[in-house]
Amino acid sequence: MAVRDHFLNVVGVSKTFEPDSAGQPPIRVIDHVSMDLEAGEFAVYLGPSGCGKTTLMRIVGGLEIASEGEVILAGERVVGPDRRKGMVFQAYTSFPWLTVLENIRFGTRYRGDLDASEKDEISRHYLGLVGLDDFADFYVNRISGGMRQRVAIARTLAAGPDILLMDEPFGALDAQTREFLQHQLLEISRIERKAVIFVTHDVEEAVFLADRIFIFSARPARIVEEIRVGEVIPGKRDLATKETRAFFDLRNRVRDLMRGESAGVEQGME
Ligand SMILES: Nc1ncnc2c1ncn2[C@@H]1O[C@H](COP(=O)(O)OP(=O)(O)O)[C@@H](O)[C@H]1O
Ligand SMILES: [Mg+2]
Repeated sequence: MAVRDHFLNVVGVSKTFEPDSAGQPPIRVIDHVSMDLEAGEFAVYLGPSGCGKTTLMRIVGGLEIASEGEVILAGERVVGPDRRKGMVFQAYTSFPWLTVLENIRFGTRYRGDLDASEKDEISRHYLGLVGLDDFADFYVNRISGGMRQRVAIARTLAAGPDILLMDEPFGALDAQTREFLQHQLLEISRIERKAVIFVTHDVEEAVFLADRIFIFSARPARIVEEIRVGEVIPGKRDLATKETRAFFDLRNRVRDLMRGESAGVEQGME
């Protein structure tokens, strides 16, 4: 059996969806994927659209059941979703009738480890961490999309997860807001030291954020390459990192790998 001495172990996971109607073939989406992650590490799943990234992330989060293999998080087998797996999606489902602070506090609802005043304190803490102190009393339908994603991140962190699972969370934002939030997320993950799996199909975003990039093939998803970004781009990352030679070279290398995989899609694998 595979080794299980990492914070997260994805062990030989495959997924086949059964067809909706008779006569259709089953869809193989993930093919024997194994990966691991340490506490505090930032992983990016990068791969062509439709390859199975979201499905794999949902399996790690316990929202989807693997057809084969298993996921072990902090020594326990993942069998369903719970507050230890904090998920952030592209479109945040916030409550328009609650304020920013109330939305964040909603994240603490299952925290039996905290009393009411501690929940208030934690909510205020994460409000500040995402830089929304001045917007605490705004209703979420009165703030921008970028701010809403910051609320989503704060709410998820307030739940006290072991791991953050983020599925293209900045995908719907304009380029400038996206860059700002990438930078802010790096700061947050440095402070929080949480394990993160961040799904994207954007090469630049992957290289900027990741400690490790897992590049997936076209469907069914297999890991075609794992890149330890810190070995190529050492040191603290900030917006100036994007102007460096090391960043440029790695981005091009990853882009080439991705082009190879996307070509597979065009040749009729999709
Ligand atoms: N519940 C489902 N039933 C059947 N097919 C699905 C289901 N969920 C996803 N798929 C299919 O699995 C493939 C991978 O989807 P997904 O994981 O969302 O890819 P990605 O996130 O990489 O774009 C797609 O072809 C999609 O249509
Ligand atoms: Mg997806």
